Amino acid sequence: MTANRATTTVLKLGGSVVTEKDRPETVDPASLRRAAESVATITGRLVVVHGGGSFGHHHAAEHGVSNTEGTNEDAAIRSIHGAMKRLNGAVVDSLAEAGVPAVPVHPFSAAVRTAEGTLRLGTDPVAAMLDAGFVPVLHGDTVIHDGTGATIVSGDELVVALAGALGADRVGVCSSVPGVYDAEGDVIGRIESFEDVVDAVGASDTTDVTGGMAGKVRELLSLDAPAYVFDIDGLDAFAAGGTPGTEIE
Ligand code: IPE
Repeated sequence: MTANRATTTVLKLGGSVVTEKDRPETVDPASLRRAAESVATITGRLVVVHGGGSFGHHHAAEHGVSNTEGTNEDAAIRSIHGAMKRLNGAVVDSLAEAGVPAVPVHPFSAAVRTAEGTLRLGTDPVAAMLDAGFVPVLHGDTVIHDGTGATIVSGDELVVALAGALGADRVGVCSSVPGVYDAEGDVIGRIESFEDVVDAVGASDTTDVTGGMAGKVRELLSLDAPAYVFDIDGLDAFAAGGTPGTEIE
């Protein structure tokens, strides 16, 4: 971190933080407001990414789309992307109400996935928004996947792409768990290598089509910036520059 440059933070608000996960297309207004008020206290340059929760996953499952299983149906793309845009509108509005200069960014129009599965996200507009003093708010979405139609891009993937491209100083992943659990169910304070935690998180990877905790840890370890995994109770501490939950570096 250089002294003459504002800190750049990339923060993901998981779908479980902003929506009621079990009821289709339902925002969790109290949790969203609480998160927005906390986000409003973050100083420096900030990018927010939110997950799909009951908006994205519901439509993605209905159309059999995951981050590897694609669709060639335009109607499926419109339904997943449309739901995520509605959720993004609710998140942007809530952030704005809390005093955050939030503006929407829709990854479907800014990203592609190569045939090998690599995400290519155009980050020039996001960097320009930051330079202009705004807080870009991206979301898990569909992206055109070379040769596969459209697949899902998770909020976690976007966080990793943004943090790398923007040279982020801090990364936060706020979800439904207070940190990465060890085999005994206790939150691990710090993870420095995947081998340290493979026994605890390795097996949990199979059910979540957009990554799971093992995928999250692996991706966050690849970043230069320290990353923190915490739940909504840790968000105020993260916003204030603290180190809640599990630190991954
Ligand atoms: C999923 O994003 C996006 C869609 C299904 C369109 P995430 O995988 O980041 O969402 P959450 O945080 O788990 O809900």
